[in-house]
Amino acid sequence: MPNIIIVGTQWGDEGKGKIVDFLTETTDVVVRAQGGANAGHTVYNAGEKYVLHLMPSGILWPGKECVIGNGVVIDPLAFIKEIEGLESKGVAVTPDNLRLSSAAHVVFPHHRGLDQAREQRRGKSKIGTTGRGIGPAYGDKIDRCGLRVNDLIQPERLEAKFRARVEQMGSTFEGLDLPSIEETLTAYTEAGKRLAPHVSNTVAFLHEAIRSGKQLLFEGAQGAYLDIDHGTYPFVTSSNTTAGGACTGSGVSPTRVDEVIGVCKAYTTRVGSGPCVTESEAFSSRLHEMGREFGATTGRKRRCGWLDMVMLRFTTMVNGLTKLAITNLDGLDGLETVQLCTAYEMDGERLTLPPIDAEDWERCTPVFEEMPGWSEDISHARSLEDLPSQARAYLDRISEITETPIGIVSVGPDRQQTMVCAV
Ligand code: IMP
Repeated sequence: MPNIIIVGTQWGDEGKGKIVDFLTETTDVVVRAQGGANAGHTVYNAGEKYVLHLMPSGILWPGKECVIGNGVVIDPLAFIKEIEGLESKGVAVTPDNLRLSSAAHVVFPHHRGLDQAREQRRGKSKIGTTGRGIGPAYGDKIDRCGLRVNDLIQPERLEAKFRARVEQMGSTFEGLDLPSIEETLTAYTEAGKRLAPHVSNTVAFLHEAIRSGKQLLFEGAQGAYLDIDHGTYPFVTSSNTTAGGACTGSGVSPTRVDEVIGVCKAYTTRVGSGPCVTESEAFSSRLHEMGREFGATTGRKRRCGWLDMVMLRFTTMVNGLTKLAITNLDGLDGLETVQLCTAYEMDGERLTLPPIDAEDWERCTPVFEEMPGWSEDISHARSLEDLPSQARAYLDRISEITETPIGIVSVGPDRQQTMVCAV
């Protein structure tokens, strides 16, 4: 049975939550391996809408096991709130269906405070973070001064390490509106007790699962262009959002992975700052007027543009995509023509792969290929044959340029609005 990594191919919000939920039916274990409460995965289950931040969406399926791996940064208070929200809707969260890595790093109030204060100080050049403390928490991890879940669940260690860290940071905290050290310690000690039954060495669990023939599904958060190494730096998040991040963030070797499915919107969106070569105000307004493209975590309006094949070419490469899942194809309904960006122009030069630096992206202009659009409402399509020929031609062109088969096409939030071409 294949182990599958699901990644976002753009700037996040590609509809990964829905694709993961769809594939969960045939999987056993759903794994989150990077990111934190910055993610917002919207999933519709039995007519109910769920917005998940840290929790793998497999939790909504009885009998499935969920793992939060070592590569994730956990805000325990936000996570407990998420668990309680799920429980209040009748979703069972138990030590049997939720396992949390003891090596995952912990997000503290000062990480959030620093994230927000730094953004404010950056002024016009702000990154547009979610303000969830992600950058400072990963910063501490890389700087080797972070606290891990294993510290969180041992009150004495938590207190000693937290006090030492606060002392080390000294005046860095000045001006931040933070709870007192005692308040934080009380809340985090309680949170540690609450989460302790879920905490274990998840690497060992995942290897045992593989050995016993279980199928793993890795639920990527954010998208390839928010990757700390491969994205539009510095307008990125602080983890590896590309396929390799699923391996380092879970302790599962690349030799155990069979498929990497890249989720791609039929157009481009971005929240936060930074370049977006195909961005179009008219196209953005059109989607917002349709009630689409508002952020799941922060409610911000997403910036929208035509599908960028320059980005997609590189994403296919860096993730080693075996298949594409195209979502939101219905967002292009009713357009006379659709545009596909197949190259960039930069200083008179034609580029088929994106430049490295965000500054250079800003200097790029899109080269479009125009294709006929379709007037029909395709949200009722249930198989490729139901789609207008123009929509099928659009999909074929995406597959041709990326040299990657399209495995799934989605035309709406419901499970039935999903066409499987080949998985
Ligand atoms: P951070 O991850 O909060 O540090 O934010 C860094 C950048 O990543 C900002 O541009 C955010 O808007 C973006 N970002 C983080 N998480 C998501 C997500 O789940 N979807 C879309 N953008 C995200």
